Amino acid sequence: MSDPRQTAVIVLAAGEGTRMKSSIPKMLHTIGGRSLLDHAVRAARGISPAHLEVVVRYERDRVSEHVLSLDDGVIIADQDEIAGTGRAVECGLQALPADFAGTVVVTMGDVPLLTADTLAGLVDAHLATHSAATVITATPADPTGYGRVVRGIDGAVEAIVEQKDATEAQRAIQEVNSGLYAFDAVMLREALAQVGTDNAQGEKYLTDVVAIARSRGLAVQAHLIADLWQTEGVNDKVQLARLGAELNRRTVEAAMREGAIVIDPATTWIDADVTIGHDTVVHPGTQIHGATTIGRDCVIGPDTTLIDVEVADGASVVRSQVELAVIGPRATVGPFSYLRPGTRLGAEGKIGGFVETKNAQIGDGAKVPHLTYCGDATIGEGANIGAGTIFANYDGITKEHTDVGAYSFVGSNSVIVAPRDIGAGSYVAAGSAVVSDVGPGQLAVTRAAQRNIDGWVARRRSGTRTDQAAHQANAAAAEAKLAEQPGAVAPGDDWAAADAKEAQR
Ligand code: UD1
Ligand code: CA
Repeated sequence: MSDPRQTAVIVLAAGEGTRMKSSIPKMLHTIGGRSLLDHAVRAARGISPAHLEVVVRYERDRVSEHVLSLDDGVIIADQDEIAGTGRAVECGLQALPADFAGTVVVTMGDVPLLTADTLAGLVDAHLATHSAATVITATPADPTGYGRVVRGIDGAVEAIVEQKDATEAQRAIQEVNSGLYAFDAVMLREALAQVGTDNAQGEKYLTDVVAIARSRGLAVQAHLIADLWQTEGVNDKVQLARLGAELNRRTVEAAMREGAIVIDPATTWIDADVTIGHDTVVHPGTQIHGATTIGRDCVIGPDTTLIDVEVADGASVVRSQVELAVIGPRATVGPFSYLRPGTRLGAEGKIGGFVETKNAQIGDGAKVPHLTYCGDATIGEGANIGAGTIFANYDGITKEHTDVGAYSFVGSNSVIVAPRDIGAGSYVAAGSAVVSDVGPGQLAVTRAAQRNIDGWVARRRSGTRTDQAAHQANAAAAEAKLAEQPGAVAPGDDWAAADAKEAQR
């Protein structure tokens, strides 16, 4: 027989979740950047059980593949066609070693705020009281829909009655079953064998185990917890958003306790896996998702979205969208830029306003300050990419790469047609279309020479405001030239002298 103090956790995830009205299985919907099932499996793993199982049926392949991608130590148990939480646990027990005689903890795949600490507290209470079953219960303001906890005159738990099977008097009970339990494995196996399906839903209820244990004179405890959120399940998309908002509130609070400065927690969304260093300021309207890590003393936001981004100490990202990118120490991004996957910005580098980057390695101290598309490029240390530069990386068939060497200077409004190699320490003149490589120290100029055609406006735009402006400017220039000549009298300077001069003619 196995060690009676061993623990197995069975996470129930076989239900269809019809009320979600979704093509995605309920368990795979996410809050805080993790699926509901991911939250449930992590809490279960957090008590280091000897066995961890997930019971599946609806969309079994999709759900089990997802679970194994999160934690390949999970045992997948299949529920058969008999419905109900009791049958689900029975199928789970069949996948455990036949002689398992420890504690079986049952949790639900759709209760995402439950923590490992709460489960550990449940197991401790269960073992300390030598109970056959211990049920986590709660007293929500509105108990509708939950199973009610029926207590005897001595206060001991007698039974759990489902809403649909409850009498009027039982429905008035405030204390509800959270669906989270610890059971003695041997008792559970025996009791489930006796549970039938004679109830309003025609299902094999796990909750019936409670009355069976009591009828055999065994102890059943309620483990009442105050944090109702940890017992709340997701049944529809309203609850998904509600629990998502509460999880976020908890995550943002934890980030602040770890030293982040969050200006407006109400408009800041931080996923559960994110880490933020001391004194980094997160401004309003910012979403930080996935496996993002942010160093110390950074400025993030306002109105910024980071998805799987690594931000080093002292960097700033303002009003920008960044995905799968690495931002170096003291580098600056934004406002209004879009950094796509594969962007790496070096230490003290700059990506300014209205810049889009993709698969771009931008060296230490290099600058891409304004209005640029920088795709499939490597930019050397200290290089400067002028306003409006386009890295033309796509010819309609293939994507090609461009290298710009260290300390090179690409003039504004240039198009660099890839594949291209712009050597270190070179210049590209503003407005060039660069279609061949540039060597170190060279200046590349590809634009046509400028021609100025005199009198064009007077001839072709005669009488327009433009023409008038040209006349005024030409007249002013002529007067200025006259005034420069020695002995000349500026008009308005001395009208009497000018008149006298005129009279002498
Ligand atoms: C269940 C409890 C109820 C409790 C409530 C708490 C029973 C009979 N009722 O009701 O007392 O107040 O949870 O949220 O247990 N599942 C399976 N296989 C099945 C049916 C369900 O794996 O055949 C899984 C679901 O995927 C889900 C969980 O069990 O994760 C709960 O199922 P659900 O149908 O939501 O149970 P409730 O009716 O809410
Ligand atoms: Ca439920």
